[in-house]
Order: sequence, then structure tokens, then C-alpha cells
Amino acid sequence: MRGIDIPADENVLVGIEGFEDAGVYKITDDIALVQTVDFFTPVVDDPYWFGQIAAANALSDIYAMGAQPKTALNLVCFSPKKFDISILKEIIRGGADKIREAGVSLLGGHSVDDEEIKYGLSVTGIVHPDKVILNEGAKPSDILILTKPLGTGIMNTAIKGRLLDKDRALGLAKVMAALNRRAAEAMLSVNVHACTDVTGFGLAGHLKEMIKDAVGVELFTDKLPYFEEAAGFAASGFVPGGLYRNRDFYKEHVVTSRTDFFFDIIFDPQTSGGLLMAIDPGDRKKFEETAVHLGVEYYIIGTFLEEPKGKIILE
Ligand code: CO
Ligand code: CO
Repeated sequence: MRGIDIPADENVLVGIEGFEDAGVYKITDDIALVQTVDFFTPVVDDPYWFGQIAAANALSDIYAMGAQPKTALNLVCFSPKKFDISILKEIIRGGADKIREAGVSLLGGHSVDDEEIKYGLSVTGIVHPDKVILNEGAKPSDILILTKPLGTGIMNTAIKGRLLDKDRALGLAKVMAALNRRAAEAMLSVNVHACTDVTGFGLAGHLKEMIKDAVGVELFTDKLPYFEEAAGFAASGFVPGGLYRNRDFYKEHVVTSRTDFFFDIIFDPQTSGGLLMAIDPGDRKKFEETAVHLGVEYYIIGTFLEEPKGKIILE
């Protein structure tokens, strides 16, 4: 978007410049609209699961802003000449099931005749204008929490190599299709200073967006959650191209002497990953209690530091 003149409006609370998960527009002193759009090509073979994953992924950006999703529109690219229409039906059914689970209303959508299947949603949510959670704002000594395991990029690459049996592929699909709704609920029960969801740029990329050059972060390497089989698959070379791109782009911000699997997994691009949040250390117990009560999976994976600013420590 560089070089393009964007119209200015004082009601735009979060615009396109901050690499935020969604845009925020103030309507009244109590209500701001939160808007996002996300769609992509199939990540799994089963169209119903693809629909669920794509919808959960689009909804996630609303949760990451601390907002409540309210309405959604389907975005569909599909060629009825190339594919059986029942495939499209299953994709839409998967999306609709997730939309219903999120308590969101589907208002319509738009489809384009396209040889390459794509699906996703445009989602609108609401939030109090003073309670928007940004990806920046973490403070030194905040704890870093992640709510889904890493490694979906490596696992999806292994699926394409036919290395995962049906049961395991389904287990993976379930994690990707899980809404970040309850995780956001647990987050909103405490003092959260920053949040984003982990997607294409991997843990390291999204962490860099959080810390900018304002704070540093130390990862608890032995606490990083990941799909068990991912380490073996990565060792056998089932590594997505995006992982290498992320590593080339973000490695200068990572302080490490590691060259093992952990130097892969932090760069692995995630599909519909978990929330990554900076929580006030005094609220740790309350967060854990709420998360357990809500049945939210969570991992305390690091702590924010005053120094070195802008760096991710992986030792
Ligand atoms: Co996001
Ligand atoms: Co997004």
C-alpha cells in the first residue's frame, strides 16, 4: 500500500499502517466496528474441514483485537465447470457451522468463477473504543501466552507428502478449525497488554510485530508447544517454503545459538494458529484459573524484557 494516499478520518482508531489483525472504526463513544477479511486456497483435502478452518481463521482476527464478532460475509472462488458443486456446498457448510458456533450472523457473500478454489470470510465485530487490544503494548515482565501448538505448516507439508494417516490428519484439522473464542474470553478476564494471532509469519514474525523495537522477549524453549511428529517431519525435510522465507526475513531479530528444530518451529507459518498474548504477571493465576474453567488450552512460553529491545531470545 506504500505510495497510495489513504483518506484520513479521525474515527479510524486502527488503520492499515500498524500491521494489526483488523481495522477499527469508531461509531459512537461506546461502540467501534472491527473489520477484517481473510480467504485462502484449501489447506486440507476435506472440503467441509477446509470451510471450518478458513472461517475460524477469519474470525480469529476479531478475537485477537479483543472484539466480539457479529456478522460475516462469504467470499468464494470456485469453478462449477471444473469441480463438482457438492464440494462448494461442503465448504460453505463448514464455514456456516463455524459461524454458528461463534454466534455470528451470516449476511450474504460473493462468489467469483475461478479455477483455483478459495474460501474465507469478511467479518465485522464490535468493541468498546477504549478496549481495543493491539499487537503492540507489551510491558517488560509481562508473560507471553500461546493458545495453540505450533507446527501446522510442517504438518500440512507432511500431509501433502502422504505421511499422515486419516486420524492424525483429522486431529490436525480440528486444531486449525478450533475457534479462538474461548481463548479470547480468558484473555479479556485479565489485564492484557497486547495480543495477536499466529498465522503466516510464524511465531517469530508475529512476536516481532508485538515487540517492535519497544521491548524484548525471551522464549522458554522447552515450553514451546508443537505437534509431536513435526520434529521428525522437519528433520526429513518436510518444511514449507514459507518457513524459510520467514526465517530469512526475521532471523536478524532472533538471538540464538540454536540450529536445531526450535530454529525451524518458531518460523513455521501457521494456519489458523492460536492467540499470542502479553499478560500482566500479577494476573497469571487468574488467567490460568479462567482458562482451565473455560477449557482453554494455553502455554506460558516466555517473558517480555526491558532489554534487548526488538529482540527475541531463543536459548
Ligand atoms: Co491475524
Ligand atoms: Co488475518
